[in-house]
Parts: sequence; C-alpha cells; structure tokens
Amino acid sequence: MTEKDFKAEPYQHFSDSGKVTWKAPSNIALVKYWGKLANQIPANPSISFTLDTCATTTSVAYQKREDGKDGFSFDLLFEGKPKEDFKPKIETFFKRIEFYVPFLKDYHFTIETSNSFPHSSGIASSASGMAALSLCLLDVEKQLNPEMNEKFFKKKASFLARLGSGSACRSIEGDLIQWGEHPNIPDSSNLYGIKYPFEVNPVFKNYHDTILLVHKGQKQVSSTVGHDLMHGHPYAQNRFQQAFGNLDKFKSIFAGGDLEEFIKMVESEALTLHAMMMTSMPYFILMKPDTLEIINKIWKYRTDTKVPICFTLDAGANVHVLYPESVKEKAIQFIQDELVVHCEKGHYICDRIGMGAKIIADQ
Ligand code: DP6
Repeated sequence: MTEKDFKAEPYQHFSDSGKVTWKAPSNIALVKYWGKLANQIPANPSISFTLDTCATTTSVAYQKREDGKDGFSFDLLFEGKPKEDFKPKIETFFKRIEFYVPFLKDYHFTIETSNSFPHSSGIASSASGMAALSLCLLDVEKQLNPEMNEKFFKKKASFLARLGSGSACRSIEGDLIQWGEHPNIPDSSNLYGIKYPFEVNPVFKNYHDTILLVHKGQKQVSSTVGHDLMHGHPYAQNRFQQAFGNLDKFKSIFAGGDLEEFIKMVESEALTLHAMMMTSMPYFILMKPDTLEIINKIWKYRTDTKVPICFTLDAGANVHVLYPESVKEKAIQFIQDELVVHCEKGHYICDRIGMGAKIIADQ
C-alpha cells in the first residue's frame, strides 16, 4: 500500500455531532526505532511488545462548525483540565493528517485525554496518546463512511498514529508488532505497524514488563531531537544495518523461545540505542547512576540464579525489566528486594504484554 491508499473516500453521511472514546496502550521496543527520514519514515525497522496497563484513554466529541472560519478548532483537556501546552503538538499532527482525514476543519473537537500511569512518571505518553487520538479520529471517519472494513481501519489508525509519533503506530494492536519495511518480512511497511507474521513461541505470550521509574522528571533531550541527531551520525548507517540484521535473528528466537539469545538481543539493542545518544554530536546521556546500578544487579542476579530476566531501555532513564510468566514470583521478589531502592520514591509499574487498543462504550 502507498500513502495515497489512505486518502479518505468521499463521505456518504454527515453527522452533526457525536463522541467516541478509545483506550490505547503504550509499547516497549525490542529492536529500537532511532533515526528517521521525512514524513515519519523510519530509518530502520523495529519491533515491540504491546503493553497492557500503561495506556491513554482519549475521547473526542465533535460538533459541526458554523463559524465559517479557516483553521482547526479544538479544545484539549488533560486529566480534566485544559492543557494549552499540548495544543501545538496536536495542531502539527492535524496538519500532517488533514489530507487523509479531510473532515478535520468541518468540526470543533473537544479532546479529553488521561493516562493510566501517573503524570510525570517519565513514561512517554506520546505512543499511547497518539494511538488513542488516531483511533478516535478514524472512528469519526468511520461514521461518515461506514463501509470501512476492520482490517483497513486498524491499518489506517496505525498510519495516522505514525504521523503523530513514530512508535505510536505500534500501539494499535497486540501483542508483537513490527514496523518498517524489511526484505524478509512479508507485508512489512514503513507506513504502519503489522502483527508479527511469523511463529511466536508460547514463552513470549505472557511476558512481563516491570517498569522501574528511576527518574520522573523531564528528560534533557527529546526523542525528536535525538532522532534528528542520527543525520550525519558517524555510526548511523551501521546501526541501521544492524537493526535489519537483528530482526532476522529474532525470527528463530521468537519461534524457538531461546531466552538466552532473546536476552542478548534485547539488552544489546537497549545499550546500542544509548550508545547512539552518547556518540551523537552534541552527545548526551539519558541514563542515570541508578539505571546502571539496576543493570549491574540484573546481570549479577542472572549469573547467580540463571533466572531469565533482562532489561531494556527507551529514550530515558527508566528501566523495563522483562521476564516470562514462569519466573514471575522470583522476578518480583528480586525487584522488590534489590531494585526498588533505585526507583524515585520507590515507584514502579507492573505491566505485561497486551492485546492492543479498545473502544470504550459511551456511559
Ligand atoms: C527510543 O516514537 O517517541 O522509544 O517519531 O519523533 O515521536 P517520534 O519519536 P518516538 O521515538 C521512540 C524511540 C524509542 C524506540 C522505539 O520505541 O522504537
């Protein structure tokens, strides 16, 4: 499919007003997206576990406009209160997607959004937030054009979400989502995420992700700036090639369930992501001393006990601790005994692999 396939069909219905609500989860990448081209095209393919607990719920109420004015018209409420500083991001998103959802200027929108995870937990809400908003807008389009089928609905939601935030395109469905064209992955696309099409061993079915909140403050360098620093980065081309190769290697790991190999790949991807940050110009470090303490303790625990628990990182200091269902009790005990001391105010979130976004019926 190409971009043109996502242009809206002429609308069959016109609705004056309505409201839709969607809840979309966050996701954690195993092969990282870091570096992009124009129009939110990733420089390399990535793959992620969709999460379950960490999610954004967004409702969009729409009302036909009579003001005859140009431009977009919307109010934004975050956790019940107006949030002016989120508005420019939404305005940019609307500009990027207007060609594909041309009703945007016909309505005034009231967008209400809230996160399941605590405000300023250092967890990026852009993936879940952009996924939930895209689903709401596409649901409005579906009411104008009811013939849209389920499969296309999900593809287009992922396509729109990508234009809001790249990783958001992996937050529409579960449980293992791949994004970015790869010669050996059929139907893979730079435009949207797909369900991983190959065999996945049951050991990955109930995987856990305990998120250790090491640093809840605003990070010094945003993902957008970080991605941009991959242009002209001395190691960028090798890194992009490595990601292609890592996706190939994951194929037999996912099928066979070899956790030792899985751990090697996941931890190497996390550290490579941060190595790219440290070797950017200007260089930067998002890990904190506690991030390293946690990593070292995980390595020691794994060597001592052979319990297959590992870490990954996203663009921040927080640590995602990944482990299979079979070692859940041991892992939680270890986290509580040894890792929680490194969390800001002792806070952490128990999450697990999830099945994707859900519509929320109107109360
Ligand atoms: C490190 O999706 O937040 O989490 O497209 O600029 O919104 P934008 O970037 P974003 O980048 C996420 C980067 C990452 C790795 C990943 O999720 O693959």
